[in-house]
Amino acid sequence: MGNGGEASEIYIGLGGGGAADGPRQSLVLKRANRHGLIAGATGTGKTVTLQGLAESFSAVGVPVFVADVKGDLSGMAMAGSPTAKTHEPFSKRAAEIGDGDWVYRDNPVIFWDLFGEQGHPVRTTISEMGPLLLARLMGLNETQEGVLNIVFRFADEQGMLLLDLEDLQSMLAYTSLHAADLTAKYGNVTKASIGAIQRQLLTLETQGGAQFFGEPALEIDDMMQCDEQGRGYINILAADKLMASPKLYATFLLWLLAEMFETLPEVGDPEKPKLVFFFDEAHLLFDDAPKALIDKIEQVVRLIRSKGVGVYFVTQNPIDVPEEVAGQLGNRVQHALRAFTPRDQRAVKAAADTFRQNPTVDVARAITELKVGEALVSLLLADGAPSPVERTLIKPPCSRAGPLTPKERAIIQSISPIEGKYDTRVDRESAEEVIAQKSLDAAATANEVAEKGREEVGKRERKSTSIWGKAAKRAASAVAGSAASIAAAAVLGKKSRSDPMRNAATSAAGSVATDLGGPMVGRFVRNLIGGLMR
Ligand SMILES: Nc1ncnc2c1ncn2[C@@H]1O[C@H](COP(=O)(O)OP(=O)(O)OP(=O)(O)O)[C@@H](O)[C@H]1O
Ligand SMILES: [Mg+2]
Repeated sequence: MGNGGEASEIYIGLGGGGAADGPRQSLVLKRANRHGLIAGATGTGKTVTLQGLAESFSAVGVPVFVADVKGDLSGMAMAGSPTAKTHEPFSKRAAEIGDGDWVYRDNPVIFWDLFGEQGHPVRTTISEMGPLLLARLMGLNETQEGVLNIVFRFADEQGMLLLDLEDLQSMLAYTSLHAADLTAKYGNVTKASIGAIQRQLLTLETQGGAQFFGEPALEIDDMMQCDEQGRGYINILAADKLMASPKLYATFLLWLLAEMFETLPEVGDPEKPKLVFFFDEAHLLFDDAPKALIDKIEQVVRLIRSKGVGVYFVTQNPIDVPEEVAGQLGNRVQHALRAFTPRDQRAVKAAADTFRQNPTVDVARAITELKVGEALVSLLLADGAPSPVERTLIKPPCSRAGPLTPKERAIIQSISPIEGKYDTRVDRESAEEVIAQKSLDAAATANEVAEKGREEVGKRERKSTSIWGKAAKRAASAVAGSAASIAAAAVLGKKSRSDPMRNAATSAAGSVATDLGGPMVGRFVRNLIGGLMR
């Protein structure tokens, strides 16, 4: 299609319960960054709704990110087919709602996979993940999380880069050696808590964490591309295997959001989103999440809007999403809910209460009666207010509903616009190598002292300064990059890319900000740091 230039909204389905004169339900692109929720019991049509939305965004030039939990979204790369099982319900639906635009067509797709098997590998570094998310990933308790924070600070001070799990492993062992000094300086660092973190790290490794940490690390811009026809790429993350480690899945997606927040410039409310992010099985993000993490999620979701990113949570039960987050999800598609258990009944009531009422719709009743592919829909109007809830027949998707064959996937993969960029891992000098070198140096020095005497050796210059040179370069480029990105890194306790020189970079960033935008930007940066670090 690629007629992205002019479109101001995307069609979702026919309201009025599907009556021929029912009001068309469309998502206003200018409000699409005010987030959304797709909820409903199993088999009610959530994935099909998501698919329709994703391809409509793509068609108007908005790139999309989606996690493919069951493998059935990979079909978005291919046009649907009249021989498919879904042809009958889809064509029937298109006729029911008089959708004349409905034809089978494909979408531009990029496949990603944390394990590098079904798509390009996605990697980040330990320092970019930061202690808060890592602690969550490893299921650390508060004391252990405190110790992990100290490990990060210690690495910072020592100029050690934490890139992969081996770096963290070495840094933990190294911290353990210096536990007494660090305790005096920062508070309690016990060998027992370090031991506990090391054990959790092993678990993370067996879950596939080792592949996720390292370089080349993901560059967000690669997920924000359009093809030559102006269609937004749909980035599909293979998440079937990942779902076996729900914490890794949830933390990874949260990291990705934080990374986008950190990297992207402020744009306010753009004419259409820069990217739309679908978070399937969103309940995993919130399951037994500590309050501190929920607060951070709430902040990221609230603030990422002005970067032009819309986040759409997909979940079976709307009460899985904590209120402070749910309150920010302006565009809602609620498929049928069951009302068997007291929890179900609470969900029905909660869902009913959140909609802007429509006198012709009895929400609490309708919600249990909705057909497959039918939903209660309320979308943000151009003025930002929610539209009155409508019983809506959701339009069918144009691409295939169902998985690709391995052969089809291989073909799509071979024409990927980022073919080759991430496929091979690189391992540069970081904490592990430096610490190994240090112990070699220490042994050599001990020998030298034994041979030549302490005085003679003490006059010699220190070795192993290369890491500082590199760190300084990184810091310089981070400063040149963006002041706000460094400030934004504070959101999840992540370190900016300039790690070892962070203080220098942050103060330099302050002056860059002042140069660029005067007191306003400076104040923004300080408020952000102040507000988010609390
Ligand atoms: N808008 C629609 N128009 C026509 N048929 C639909 C529509 N939505 C869903 N269906 C039918 O319902 C089936 C199940 O839908 P879908 O896979 O989206 O459910 P789901 O809510 O994602 O279920 P689960 O929770 O198990 O993932 C589809 O394969 C399709 O046959
Ligand atoms: Mg589904």
